[in-house]
Amino acid sequence: MPNITYIDGKYLNYEDSKIHINDRGYHFGDAVYEVIVFNKNIFYDFDGHIQRLFKSLTSLEIKFSLSSSSLKIIINNLIRLNKANIGSVYIQVSRGVAERNHSFHGLNIKPILTIIVTKKSNIENNLNGVKAITLNDNRWSRPDIKTTQLLPNVLAKTLANKNNAYESIFIDDEGFVTEGSSSNIWVLNKENQLITRNLDGKILSGITRNSISLFAKKNNIAVIEKKFTQIELYNAKEVFLTSASSFIMPIVQIDDQNINQGLVGNISLELRKLYFNNFKHS
Ligand code: PDD
Repeated sequence: MPNITYIDGKYLNYEDSKIHINDRGYHFGDAVYEVIVFNKNIFYDFDGHIQRLFKSLTSLEIKFSLSSSSLKIIINNLIRLNKANIGSVYIQVSRGVAERNHSFHGLNIKPILTIIVTKKSNIENNLNGVKAITLNDNRWSRPDIKTTQLLPNVLAKTLANKNNAYESIFIDDEGFVTEGSSSNIWVLNKENQLITRNLDGKILSGITRNSISLFAKKNNIAVIEKKFTQIELYNAKEVFLTSASSFIMPIVQIDDQNINQGLVGNISLELRKLYFNNFKHS
């Protein structure tokens, strides 16, 4: 549990951390967010996450006046105040506080920034691989914007957990994989092609996805960005997901189908190593 949080200009004790009843994030999911993981003095992909936060704000016409450097100072202060060595930072900006009315046209309100630091004992996750299930992608048509309006994702993840799975993988109406409920999905096919869906507006442009793609290419592992089907997913040699909180997580079972005979694949592990090594040296 966090000790100190940040809400709208103030560092607060956890018990005093309350938002206004008329916050539009609370009423409408009219807010954007980011999750960034840190380990001692290393932030994973800090700049990428902050840049995407500003992009999301622009997409929704939320007029946020804080600069990225001020934001970094607040985040560092909060980590220090929480005496956190390893953990994650949740950053949310809502459009602000106003009497409940769907339209924001003409509203002159100040966005509300909230930040929560969650401590972790380590950032290593389950390397035995995890199980995933598939389901129809029933989200809105703008999953490329990182908003807190996440009910379909919440239901999908819950369904996965009820089925003893770690993640739900969304499938679009044409049978193509979009992404996970909180991750991007990758496959290595039998021809050793590493594939992840292209940025066609139907997935989030994952920051981890982007870094993995870059590190893979630097290490002569070609990455193909294109749509792939649910069948290709089942038939893949390796499948893994990427996200800020899970980094690279191998998937060894999807629905009733074992992937790579239920074993974690080499490319998944190699890419994971590349990811961590890159930040160690930066
Ligand atoms: N989720 N797709 C969706 C729908 C996501 O929610 C996320 C991240 C990703 C991966 O993006 P990134 O690599 O930038 O974390 C893809 C975060 C971790 C969350 O909601 O907690």
